Amino acid sequence: MTHLLPSLVQEELSAAEAVRQHFCSLGRSGIHAPGYFVQTFGCQQNEADSERLAGLAAAMGYRKVDTPDEADLILVNTCAIREHAEKKALSIIGQYKHIRDKNPGLIIGVGGCMVTQTHRSDKLKNSYPYVSFTFDTGAIHKLPSLVRDALTISRRQFIHSEEYSIAEGLPLAREQKHMAWLSVMYGCNNFCSYCIVPYVRGRERSRRMDDIVEEAKMLIADGAKDITLLGQNVNSYGKDLTEGYDFADVLHRVCALPGDFRVRFMTSHPKDASDRLIEAIATEEKIVRHLHLPVQSGSDAVLKRMNRRYTAEYYCSLIDKMRAAVPDISLTSDIIVGFPGETEEDFNATLEMLKYVRYDMIFSFIYSPRIGTPAAEMPDQIPHEISTERFERLLALQNAISDERNKRFIGRKLRVLVEGTSKTDENVLTGRGDMVRPVHFVGSKDRIGGFTEVEITASSTFSMEAKEIR
Ligand code: SAH
Ligand code: SF4
Ligand code: F3S
Repeated sequence: MTHLLPSLVQEELSAAEAVRQHFCSLGRSGIHAPGYFVQTFGCQQNEADSERLAGLAAAMGYRKVDTPDEADLILVNTCAIREHAEKKALSIIGQYKHIRDKNPGLIIGVGGCMVTQTHRSDKLKNSYPYVSFTFDTGAIHKLPSLVRDALTISRRQFIHSEEYSIAEGLPLAREQKHMAWLSVMYGCNNFCSYCIVPYVRGRERSRRMDDIVEEAKMLIADGAKDITLLGQNVNSYGKDLTEGYDFADVLHRVCALPGDFRVRFMTSHPKDASDRLIEAIATEEKIVRHLHLPVQSGSDAVLKRMNRRYTAEYYCSLIDKMRAAVPDISLTSDIIVGFPGETEEDFNATLEMLKYVRYDMIFSFIYSPRIGTPAAEMPDQIPHEISTERFERLLALQNAISDERNKRFIGRKLRVLVEGTSKTDENVLTGRGDMVRPVHFVGSKDRIGGFTEVEITASSTFSMEAKEIR
């Protein structure tokens, strides 16, 4: 069943209420309420899940605190995409032992992609006795009963779901008022040979169109001005539904809602990027002029072993079509360096791809073998020194391209959403145009959370400077 029975969600909301009452009866409400702290690793999908975890924690009567030391409930939402992500999560969980030593009532729960793998939840069960529970990505809604059991019967639990479904109706505590995540689908069916996601997020399942549109309305009413539609492969949206909708329909429906807001989405798999998607970007004013279209490699031999199911030529033809429809579009990509068997020639093909497409920005990664994926078993794993050296060459080339691409904005007027003040200077505001690069300009703090007009005065590899013109 794609959707979880509403009665099961209701049971959990009742468990949350029971926890809240338990704390109230101890006089722990209002400013005396117990604290929760959510630590998130990984992608936007995890950020979105963490907002549900936070919503459930709030429903249980917890209040948000700024540091783990103040918390009575710490939730770690983990990622498994690369070894580094897992190491970081394990190290943080290790540090939380000291907090637990000082506060024996502290509940530590670990969720997300890392603990969806049995070998990782087993490790936490056996080597981290102060972890109260783990729950996989299909069990987020179970947080209230896990907390209740930890509080009342001190039971340690390690949840692995039998199937992954969609839980509608979970409360939400959003991190940022003006920026919002909106999941349109979950899971992935692509099984790229290097990637752990299909094993830890389950098969693709689409939310009902009406649920998506209702949530978008709620977000807009709540002050969201920048909404990112999320899915591991948004272009597969609707394939599992009977209504015949596709992702372009989602875009059109959300853009048709009244209000001053803009829409982004990620991620698009090149093999599923349709003409209807391109047309939606070209025609809907609320969609930002940016497409994240991960290529991963420029070599056909590598793409084949990665199971990406497109060629470099096909990818370039897609870019050509995209640029014909939206000439000034900002393009970004993910690149993996050092995939098993990658030769110098294969790597050069990736460099050529960068030169052809001229991305505004790329996210590049050194290949990291993941247990259980086909690529981890492939011959000719690349030594780290070679991958690192290639990685640096890739970055040097892309930085030069980014530098030049950003210059095209100089002298142009941009509408930016003001996100906050600059980390280094209180008087400088940071905003974002269509692209992901931040724009810095001097301005008043009451602009934060709204749109303003700026003119770009200078650019660098990673950011742009501007002056406000309204
Ligand atoms: N669903 C999205 C994103 C998946 S994860 C997509 O298909 O594009 C984000 C990125 O992490 C991937 O695009 C890929 O570049 C990188 N990645 C995934 N598995 C990896 C691994 N084992 N080693 C290194 N990078 C990896
Ligand atoms: Fe991983 Fe490929 Fe799915 Fe993206 S499309 S999540 S890279 S398997
Ligand atoms: Fe990481 Fe899971 Fe996202 S593995 S990248 S948090 S889907």
